[in-house]
Amino acid sequence: MLLHIPDVLDKNRVAELRRTLDAGPWVEGAASAGPQAAEVKRNLQYSTASPQFTALSQAVAAALERHPLFVSAALPSRILPPMFNRYENGGSYGDHIDNASQIDRRDGSRVRTDLSVTLFLSEPDDYDGGELVVEDSYGAHEVKLPAGDAILYPASSLHRVESVTRGARVASFLWVQSLVRDAAERSLLFELDMNLLRLRAQHGNAPELVALTGHYHNLLRRWSEAS
Ligand code: NI
Repeated sequence: MLLHIPDVLDKNRVAELRRTLDAGPWVEGAASAGPQAAEVKRNLQYSTASPQFTALSQAVAAALERHPLFVSAALPSRILPPMFNRYENGGSYGDHIDNASQIDRRDGSRVRTDLSVTLFLSEPDDYDGGELVVEDSYGAHEVKLPAGDAILYPASSLHRVESVTRGARVASFLWVQSLVRDAAERSLLFELDMNLLRLRAQHGNAPELVALTGHYHNLLRRWSEAS
């Protein structure tokens, strides 16, 4: 499932983050990729050693955690600290699949990457190219969203970022371990939750709705992993 999550950050917040990010420091992105991915990765990454990194990263994570669509679709149990990348001057990231697990730099623990998120911090008009292309069983999907919007997609999918031939594409990227490891189960829960929300808006808290909401939670209890 590819899910567009609109308005994670408003335009003022995007501008604030960009002022800090644009001042750098940026380092070579290939340093943070596995060996296969490093060969095809041509971008810059905002230095995680920068004194501003933690505040920037927490701002993105907090905004996602407040977003009901993200929470319902991802059912996050762990969110790795968001990082930031920059593509310009022909920069691109060829076909790859993200590492199955990543070390959480805050405590050294391993986090399984069930879902990937890209949050766009450049407006689409500010650059040419730079589409995120995600392959799934229905084919290749090109994603290029307004600044402040995010895309959520399975970390298991083959994806790439097309070459940026004008301007700069700045984005935040991160991985999520979900309470529900199985993508099909997670997707069933998401659809059920969305329909329950619509029914509640139309009919209020009818007894049937209370019962179905209970079913949602009982399925979540059944399918979620112990942490
Ligand atoms: Ni990737």
